[in-house]
Amino acid sequence: MKLKDKVAIITGAGRNIGEDTARLFAKEGAKVAIVDLDKARGEAVAASIRADGGVAEAFVADVSIEAQCETLAEAVAAKLGRVDVLVNNVAISDNKKIMDITLEEWNRVMAVTLTSPFIMGRAAARQMIKQKSGGVIINLGSTSGFYGRTTALAYTTAKGGVANLTKSMAIQLSPYNIRCVLAVPNKIGSPVGKDEFDPSRPTPNLCGNRPGVPADMAKVICFLASDDASFINGSAVFVDGGVTSMMPGDRIG
Ligand SMILES: NC(=O)c1ccc[n+]([C@@H]2O[C@H](COP(=O)([O-])OP(=O)(O)OC[C@H]3O[C@@H](n4cnc5c(N)ncnc54)[C@H](O)[C@@H]3O)[C@@H](O)[C@H]2O)c1
Repeated sequence: MKLKDKVAIITGAGRNIGEDTARLFAKEGAKVAIVDLDKARGEAVAASIRADGGVAEAFVADVSIEAQCETLAEAVAAKLGRVDVLVNNVAISDNKKIMDITLEEWNRVMAVTLTSPFIMGRAAARQMIKQKSGGVIINLGSTSGFYGRTTALAYTTAKGGVANLTKSMAIQLSPYNIRCVLAVPNKIGSPVGKDEFDPSRPTPNLCGNRPGVPADMAKVICFLASDDASFINGSAVFVDGGVTSMMPGDRIG
């Protein structure tokens, strides 16, 4: 088992990428804190992991609020014994253009998508530092953080920030033996903020054009959280079917 007896916090674990990551972590021996703003969603995932023989507890928190992040990290340590791994998976998107987005919408996306990995990362690091046992923080980026887009002004900006945040976190937390890595998806399962998987969503990638599924992310995040990845720090790991390797406008075949 890759994560035997590790305690892992996964934010936004109520569905899609976070859910599959939580399920795989539990199979690999981790005790998993399922964090979601949506109580019913988080509790359903935790109950289903327990029914499969895993260890999981649901926690409700808004991880864009600093006090809730601090309370959450303490509550997980109290309930599950410690904190070894944090997956900062929560994000929301705006799908807006510069002339349409309100400042309020911009600020909300920044709080949930960019500020949350900072304040939740710091809260978890505080526990890891107290334990003197190191740890791993995995931030979810997006290919949208590496390009401009015709929409999603705030999301693309926030995800660009998360990429550099991860590098600075890796440097500043390295004295405590805490690794920080960016996992970068492109078109995985349902779009951010949505429940429904759309099989007609275009997936022009180098992997047979098959759509990415949450399990593709879960397997990589699990590897990055494990000791097998102990020499990977501060890097961005792209799980995008190769789309970012292709020259914009180029076509396969
Ligand atoms: N799905 C994709 O195609 C895709 C592509 C690129 C990047 N990503 C990134 O991967 C990550 C996961 O994406 P997803 O599509 O699985 O997300 P999702 O929208 O399906 O699920 C996110 C979960 O987070 C919860 N949540 C939202 N705001 C919260 C808050 N403030 N506090 C606590 N919980 C909150 C929601 O209730 C939801 O259950 C995100 O960081 C996203 O940007 C996803």
